[in-house]
Amino acid sequence: MTVYGSFPGARPRRLRTTSAMRRMVAETRLNPADLILPAFVREGVSEPVPIAAMPGVVQHSLDTLRKAAVEAREAGVSGIMLFGVPEDSKKDAAGTAGTDPGGILQVAIRAVKEEVGDELVVMSDLCLDEYTDHGHCGVLDAGGRVDNDATLARYAEMARVQADAGVHVVGPSGMMDGQVRVIRDALDTIGKEDVSILAYTAKYSSAFYGPFREAVASSLEGDRKTYQQDPANLRESLRELALDLEEGADMVMVKPAGPCLDVLARVAESADVPVAAYQISGEYAMIEAAAEKGWIERDKAILETLTGIRRAGAQMILTYWATEVAQKLGGAR
Ligand code: PBG
Repeated sequence: MTVYGSFPGARPRRLRTTSAMRRMVAETRLNPADLILPAFVREGVSEPVPIAAMPGVVQHSLDTLRKAAVEAREAGVSGIMLFGVPEDSKKDAAGTAGTDPGGILQVAIRAVKEEVGDELVVMSDLCLDEYTDHGHCGVLDAGGRVDNDATLARYAEMARVQADAGVHVVGPSGMMDGQVRVIRDALDTIGKEDVSILAYTAKYSSAFYGPFREAVASSLEGDRKTYQQDPANLRESLRELALDLEEGADMVMVKPAGPCLDVLARVAESADVPVAAYQISGEYAMIEAAAEKGWIERDKAILETLTGIRRAGAQMILTYWATEVAQKLGGAR
């Protein structure tokens, strides 16, 4: 061992002496362009509706959604991921409102595209759970189980109407087997080769989705354990990754982010496409709630989680704090 000067010879603390020094040697940087804003839009409201379990997040009216999209773009955020919340009376077993060209998500895509054009990447959740009266991500068979292949046909139709509405990227979040291939085929068949697929590759059945259920006024009873992944599994994610890439995913995502940083690191290591992570509703709610109680420094905690997610390997992060954080980072594009 070479000894420089007096013991201890190695002093890593030298590189931590000033904030300028720490900034210079930081291995991970957060940029507004890394961020994607998930946003909810509710049918039939003229004012935004607060989501109690997600203080600061709302179900937008079409009007406030447009404003949120512009604000995100101005802050330098890269994209917006849209979730539709239909009127309760429009929910049915097949999730028909999800494939209605006049359905809330399709209307929202058009509105946002009209507002921001190609300056913000417009993405849409491609899943049936917001539209089904049973709240599952697919259609059910006679035994009440989610029917994989029948659901794929519905997803193909969703892909078509969302692409027709002008979306840049679809985000299939239902964890049905074969969904990426079916969606790719559906898009290509109608000449939408340029619409990309952000595949929810490793999506775990998580307790941290709790607040989201309120956000989309979910009708779900029970859980999604027969289609979403078991949090105990890591190897399974690599299999899902291989399948998604083979089926034509343009980008892949790990979700939730915080509880799955090891999965994220492994996926980022093996994927040859951009990797995203979704910091989900429960991750948001935990920090907001603890901060509200004065138990945690909110802004620092937010930055620490986002930096950790980047460090683990996510190139892009979906976070409900996207606009706020982008504004604080300086908004440079
Ligand atoms: C399903 C979907 C969910 C989320 C995004 N897409 C909920 C679920 O799988 O139960 C959760 C997002 C969040 O919790 O922030 N369409």
